Amino acid sequence: MKIAILGDIHGNIEALKSAHKAAQERGADKIYHLGDLGGYAPFVNEVVDFLIEHDIEGVQGNYDETVANDREHCGCRYEDPFQSEMATLGFEWTKKHTSQKSKKYMEKLPFEIRLMIDGKKIIIFHASPKKNNLYWYEDRPEKFFTEMAEKVDADLLIYGHTHRPYRKDLDGKVFINAGSVGKPKDGDIRTCATLIEISGGDVRADFIRVSYALEKTAAAIIESGLPAYFAGKLREGR
Ligand SMILES: [Fe+2]
Repeated sequence: MKIAILGDIHGNIEALKSAHKAAQERGADKIYHLGDLGGYAPFVNEVVDFLIEHDIEGVQGNYDETVANDREHCGCRYEDPFQSEMATLGFEWTKKHTSQKSKKYMEKLPFEIRLMIDGKKIIIFHASPKKNNLYWYEDRPEKFFTEMAEKVDADLLIYGHTHRPYRKDLDGKVFINAGSVGKPKDGDIRTCATLIEISGGDVRADFIRVSYALEKTAAAIIESGLPAYFAGKLREGR
């Protein structure tokens, strides 16, 4: 059985279309998303419609929870005051332009999804087992991975939030950060669809990177009134 995971889409419909196509072409039996549907690019409502139309289930990200409930802050963390100011502008723009229908969809997303495939217990969440805004990078100490794994009964943990994909195997558990569809931050500007194949007790993960109409998204960002800074970041993969 092959599943595909579409991490943090962030309003980038062009990236979503290309990542989804790549997942289908690779024969994904079922596709899931990891939440964080708006922010940074303007097509938040188109993203929600696409997910509904293609029957793509998913979990709630910090951005979805805060947009849907009209919070003051997206719950993200920023390294400097300028980044923080840009993020605030993006968050305010997104709250204003997200339709009631999309907000309802975001509000109803579950915190986690559990699956059982070929005897493997799988859990899918946005960032970490109990908190939707914790940054779980690959270079966290092994103790951190173990502590997270102890919080849930699962063999395979799938999440995103950091926008940097990785796989780590530790003490019989498999940890997969599926990266980001719409705003990669690992220096690769291509979109990312993570394909996970489970068979005979083995877990195989492929981070499929494909080009998409990035300049179309960049132009739309500038046109929309979102900070042009976000278009520059897309072009850098940061
Ligand atoms: Fe995100």
